[in-house]
Amino acid sequence: MPLLDTLNRPLRDLRISVTDRCNFRCVYCMPKEIFGPEYQFLPRDKVLTFEEITRLARLFASVGVKKIRLTGGEPLVRKDLPELVAMLSHIPDMELTMTTNGSLLPRFASQLKKAGLKRLTVSLDSLDNEIFKAMNDVDFPVEKVLEGMDAAKAAGLEPIKVNMVVKRGVNEQSILPMARFFREKGFILRFIEYMDVGQTNGWRTNDVVSAKEIISMLNTEMPLEPADPNYRGEVAERWRYKDGSGEVGVIASVTQAFCRDCNRSRLSAEGQLYTCLFAVKGHDFRDLLRNGASDADILQKIETVWGKRADRYSEIRSENTIPLPKVEMSHIGG
Ligand code: GTP
Ligand code: 5AD
Ligand code: SF4
Ligand code: SF4
Repeated sequence: MPLLDTLNRPLRDLRISVTDRCNFRCVYCMPKEIFGPEYQFLPRDKVLTFEEITRLARLFASVGVKKIRLTGGEPLVRKDLPELVAMLSHIPDMELTMTTNGSLLPRFASQLKKAGLKRLTVSLDSLDNEIFKAMNDVDFPVEKVLEGMDAAKAAGLEPIKVNMVVKRGVNEQSILPMARFFREKGFILRFIEYMDVGQTNGWRTNDVVSAKEIISMLNTEMPLEPADPNYRGEVAERWRYKDGSGEVGVIASVTQAFCRDCNRSRLSAEGQLYTCLFAVKGHDFRDLLRNGASDADILQKIETVWGKRADRYSEIRSENTIPLPKVEMSHIGG
C-alpha cells in the first residue's frame, strides 16, 4: 500500500480523541458559559468503542501513520483508558503518546506505562495558583498537576513535555517563572500561541502573544539558540539554552503558520476524521465501522479523504476566516 501523500504532505500523525468531556473548563477551550451543566456531551453509544478505535488505528498504521496521540477533552476521564493503550500498543513501530491536563496522572501514570504508553505531554498555563485557576476555571490547584508530572516521570513516561497556552493580559507574567521552573526540572516546555480554534472562546488577534515576543523575553534572562527540528512537520520550533541546560519550544501557529508540512489528521470521539484543526466538517467513519465495511472499504475512504485534502487554515487566517464555523478543540483534541 503506498503511503498517503497529498501536496507532498504524507499522513504520519493520527490524533485520537477518546472523549469530548473534561474535568477542566479552560477559558480558551471549554468556556463555562457554553460548556455548563446544560451542555449535551456525546451519549455513550455515539462514541467509538476501544475495538473500533483499534481497528481504525491499525488501518491508519498500514498507510504510513507513525505516531498516535490520545487526546480529548481530557483522555483520562474516559473509563478504562489504559485498556485502550494496551490494545494500541500492539501496533508495530507506533509511537504512542498522549496529551493530558495531568489531573488524573497520580492515579494512572504507572498503569499507562505498563500498558505501553511511551511518553506524555501535560498542559499547564501557569505556576501561579490564582492565574492557573482562573484559566482552568474549576479551581484545580497547580500542585496537583505537578504531582501528576512527577508521577509520570517516576513511571518512566519520558521525555515529558509541558504545553503552556499564552493569552495576553492573562498569563504573560508566567512565561519566565515557567521557563525557570521547567528548565530546572528537565521537562520540555512549549509556549503555544493562543489560537482561534472553535467558535466559543471569543478569540481576538490582540490576545495573541507572538512566539517572537516570547523568545525575546526568555533571551534577556536565559540566552537561547535555535535548534533543528526533530522531524519534518514538528509543530514546535525548538530553542536550546546556550548553557546546555535543556530546551524550550514555541508553537507559532498564528504568526508563523506551518501548514506546508502538516501531516496530521484527527479522529473525533464519535468517529469523524478531520484533516485540519480548523475544519468545519469531519468525514464519518463510525457508520462504515458499524455497517459491516471491509478493511478495504475503510482504507479506500481514508485515501479519498486525505487525497482531497487542501487544508491550510493558518496560512490564510484573516478577519474573514475568524468567524467561520469551526469544530471545537474539545471535540478533536489539540
Ligand atoms: P510532539 O510529538 O512532541 O512533537 O508533539 P506535538 O508538538 O504534536 O504536541 P501536541 O499535540 O501537544 O501539540 C502541541 C499544540 O500545538 C497542540 O495542542 C495545538 O495547540 C498545536 N498544534 C498541534 N498540531 C497542530 C496543527 O496541526 N495545526 C495547528 N494550527 N496547531 C497545532
Ligand atoms: N489555542 C492554543 N492552544 C490551545 N489548546 C487548547 N485550546 C487552545 C487554543 N485556543 C491547547 C491546550 C492543550 C492542547 C491540547 O491544546 O492547552 O495543551
Ligand atoms: Fe480540558 Fe484540555 Fe480543553 Fe483545558 S484545554 S478544557 S484541560 S480539553
Ligand atoms: Fe495543519 Fe490545519 Fe494546522 Fe495548517 S491549520 S497546520 S493545515 S491543522
